[in-house]
Amino acid sequence: MSLLTPFTTMLDLADGVLTPQRKLVERTLGDMDGMYAVSVPESRRNEVVYRVSEIPVPPAEGNLLSSTTTIEPGTLEGEYHMTKGHFHAKIDRAEIYLTLAGEGRLVMATEDGEPAVEPMGRGTISYVPGGWAHRSVNVGAEPLVFLAAFPADAGYDYETIEEQGFPVLVLERNGAPEVVPNPRYRG
Ligand SMILES: [Fe+2]
Repeated sequence: MSLLTPFTTMLDLADGVLTPQRKLVERTLGDMDGMYAVSVPESRRNEVVYRVSEIPVPPAEGNLLSSTTTIEPGTLEGEYHMTKGHFHAKIDRAEIYLTLAGEGRLVMATEDGEPAVEPMGRGTISYVPGGWAHRSVNVGAEPLVFLAAFPADAGYDYETIEEQGFPVLVLERNGAPEVVPNPRYRG
């Protein structure tokens, strides 16, 4: 058995930036086309919605992946900025989120279309059990920042969400978040 060498990463608790920055994924509104209820206008395609900074390790059973996610505040026609969301490719793999800054909602759903929505805010520890797709939504005026940790062999299944959507949406109504059924859900 080959051992990994222990190592340390610095996390800026306010904005989620990792030092050193080893692997950064940036998603713009253009990358998110089809995820929101309305299509993304050409003029906003380059707007950054969120960044994920990962601490990579080999995707072997027993290893732990971790990452920070920073979701910018804002909406697309009243639907709050959010991550794409995914099931894990190994669907029974769980995940933990520790929210560091901002205010959000963690939207989850089973393959059978059962939804769950949990609050995210500085200090919340969210447990995403295996079998639940998960998406985070920034419902505040500041960036939503959280640290995630999950089994390194979990993998990502984005396709199911791209095809079906989530059974619920989080919309801004009169300045406050409201969870409503997704009329376009195809689960
Ligand atoms: Fe995940």
